[in-house]
Amino acid sequence: MTTEQLDASRVEAFGGRLLEILNHAGLAFQLSVGHRTGLFDTMAGLQPSTSEQVAQAAGLDERYVREWLGALTVGEIVYYEPAAQTYHLPAEHAAMVTRAAGPDNLAGLAPYMALVGQVEDQVIEAFEKGGGVPYSSYPKFQELQRAETAAIFDATLVDRTLPLVPGLVEKLETGIDVADFGTGGGHAINVMAKAFPNSRFVGFDISDEGLDFARGEAREWGLENARFEARDIAAFVGEEPRFDLITTFDVIHDLARPAEVLDGIHDTLKPGGTYFCADMAASSNLEDNLEHPLAPLLYTFSIFYCMTTSLAQGGAGLGTMWGEQKAIQMLGDAGFKDVAVERVEADIINSYYICHK
Ligand SMILES: C[S@@+](CC[C@H](N)C(=O)[O-])C[C@H]1O[C@@H](n2cnc3c(N)ncnc32)[C@H](O)[C@@H]1O
Repeated sequence: MTTEQLDASRVEAFGGRLLEILNHAGLAFQLSVGHRTGLFDTMAGLQPSTSEQVAQAAGLDERYVREWLGALTVGEIVYYEPAAQTYHLPAEHAAMVTRAAGPDNLAGLAPYMALVGQVEDQVIEAFEKGGGVPYSSYPKFQELQRAETAAIFDATLVDRTLPLVPGLVEKLETGIDVADFGTGGGHAINVMAKAFPNSRFVGFDISDEGLDFARGEAREWGLENARFEARDIAAFVGEEPRFDLITTFDVIHDLARPAEVLDGIHDTLKPGGTYFCADMAASSNLEDNLEHPLAPLLYTFSIFYCMTTSLAQGGAGLGTMWGEQKAIQMLGDAGFKDVAVERVEADIINSYYICHK
């Protein structure tokens, strides 16, 4: 195709789109800085303020804060008043970028950008040679994941998520045996154990860092009905049924051996038990994901974390966007009947699969 044949207006429009992408990628790092330094939390409590006042209130270096405020002003996140040289984070924006916003704090997702960016060289090598990037290349993953999902568990798990399963809350109140596979920092188990003292809870993971944190939190909260075990969750196949409820939160698509894990969950559930699986809300068909509000980010996390860590172990590499159709097929293959898929309002990340043995 010669230059003359190109539709110049489409070329120009695409160039504009690329500039927008690059600008927004830069702003994602500024969101991360604002979240990690506490600058958003500080600014939410301030009237329009100079960079000196913001820096002082946050206990940070003024020169860096001023440059950050410049980025956020041109990024339309804070408002700038040139005459007074003051900056302001409007309440409507604070409602989406502060810790007080709980699960609505989208700035809490931004640190994942820097985390996955650190492995770009290894990802490029995997594009060339196959294989993947191992968990050990993400030393800060557990800490970040814990902070991010804890806000969601605190706000939704007991009041909105578990009630999706008819009759489950009543059983938890009476007293049942519950296991969380791939528990990470164990916050889901601790939150449930605190809310339902008559039930018994165990969390399984291979991450010592996650398990240490989980046990520390359980101790701190004085929980006697929560414990944590270092176990490969792909190794439960054939074990005796002993749990009334098994949960996985954002785990299955990451795994090297997801089919074995689902088989083990099925085997260790008591007859009549429930498997409650939270995983990425998406379609298995690419064409259905065009309007998905987080699709570009989730495909990125897939290449830079979820899929590549699975492939690094010679695993299935399902990918973050494996989608509902594939999930339902695999749950059926593991022997689950009547799989229902539920969504929680305002949760754009997860689908909840309610599966019965
Ligand atoms: C994305 S994290 C989710 C953690 C936690 N459920 C949450 O929502 O915060 C996935 C977890 O699965 C764990 N995991 C991956 N493969 C595993 C395996 N074979 N056995 C046990 N845990 C595993 C990882 O260590 C990690 O903690």
